[in-house]
Amino acid sequence: MQWSDMIKVLPEGVNTLSKRPSVHVEGVYPKFIIKGDGCNVWDENGKKYIDFPCSLGAVVLGHNNEPINKAIRDVITKGTLFSLEHPKVGELAELISGLIPSMETMRFLKTGSESCSAAVRIARAFTGRDPIICCGYHGWHEWINCTTPKNAGSVQQDVTSVEWGDLKNLERLLEVKKPAAFITEPYIYATEPEIEKWLKESRRLCTVHGTLLIFDENVTGFRTKKLTAQNYWNVKPDLTCLGKAMANGIPMACVGGRRDVMKVLEDDCFVSSTFGGDLIGIVAAIAAITQLKQSATIAHIWQMGAKLKTSFNNVAKSFILEGVRCIGLPPRTHFLFPTSAHKSLFWAECLKKGVFFGHAQFASFAHNQFDVDTACAAMSHALKIVMKNWKDPEAVLGGKPAAETLRTITVPAEKVPVVEKVEPKKDSDKLVGQIAKNVAEPSKRRGRPAGSRNKPK
Ligand SMILES: Cc1ncc(COP(=O)(O)O)c(C=O)c1O
Repeated sequence: MQWSDMIKVLPEGVNTLSKRPSVHVEGVYPKFIIKGDGCNVWDENGKKYIDFPCSLGAVVLGHNNEPINKAIRDVITKGTLFSLEHPKVGELAELISGLIPSMETMRFLKTGSESCSAAVRIARAFTGRDPIICCGYHGWHEWINCTTPKNAGSVQQDVTSVEWGDLKNLERLLEVKKPAAFITEPYIYATEPEIEKWLKESRRLCTVHGTLLIFDENVTGFRTKKLTAQNYWNVKPDLTCLGKAMANGIPMACVGGRRDVMKVLEDDCFVSSTFGGDLIGIVAAIAAITQLKQSATIAHIWQMGAKLKTSFNNVAKSFILEGVRCIGLPPRTHFLFPTSAHKSLFWAECLKKGVFFGHAQFASFAHNQFDVDTACAAMSHALKIVMKNWKDPEAVLGGKPAAETLRTITVPAEKVPVVEKVEPKKDSDKLVGQIAKNVAEPSKRRGRPAGSRNKPK
């Protein structure tokens, strides 16, 4: 299949917007990846790369992980989806509950968007309140999509987003909105003390205001030390959303939390899907988590990520490249450049040396010292080229500078200068105005009157 044929049958040629050519360096990056093994991927021409986007953070142990393959092989010839549950489903729930104590009970789903939507619905059902405060990216579903610029077709809801770390605004919104829940990514690209403050204060404020606290650990889960941000910083949310890495890229997600809150699912709150207990995902998750719970696994991921970050920052500093930095905790880092053209030239030069970068780097268990050393050498070479072409990086790029992803548009990161501003395709001012208006207006969502159910603890 050629790319020219892909775009005839798939909008923009993709299923996942982060895979679009326009968010890479179109004209330089390959269009397809056709194979993966460990930390390597191969494009349609057989060229091998060291992979750092790692399937948008889903592949945390490396591609083609043998213990997961074996677990899948063991079930695949005996049927993988039945009309009654399989005991392995309970086994996985018990495993997760033992490792993440706030998740007393849970329901399995297939995508991170589902896990967040389910958490929001459960919180609304439990509290009898409608408004939601959110922070970060939580997928494509209705309740969150209405807060983004790409929101055509979404019904507006009473959902307000706060910037990560803006405790003052969070407190004000909790007072004014009296929301059912505050859902936040525990961290995006911040420092450890900032994260600890954000998590602990969010917990305190939510408790004071009777709002449920939801941690969307779709990205932070299974790559943070002690497995999750909540474990590492010892902050207990009321509900947790998991996905991405929980089965190392086999579709699996989960919403779970306080037993009394989750109990609404036994009453009139509906969350159910045909594939929730699909055995391929369940056994893959058991096999993945069994490897991830070994402390050496995540320690290795952090070590590799830290080496990559330090090396980048040291070279950028030695070249005195203004506005060039690698930010974030070791398992999830992000390169900052003054413009997309600078960043794209850096990516393109690394790609030529066999190192595949994207909007976020996710170090994995499969990256070893040699892989990271190779990446560091490529980065050093690429930064030199960027420095040489500082005034006009686009002139030597050989392709189109990468556009930002929706995540980057909606998520304000660290308090560093914003590197570039992306204009949404549509009339953004009108849309943003519309969003602001809808956020300011009381919810027009139909349903139970607010406050008619349980009170949060
Ligand atoms: C923090 C977070 N939550 C939710 C999602 C949505 O997950 P999915 O794309 O599996 O629906 C993502 C996806 O990138 C994410 O990063």
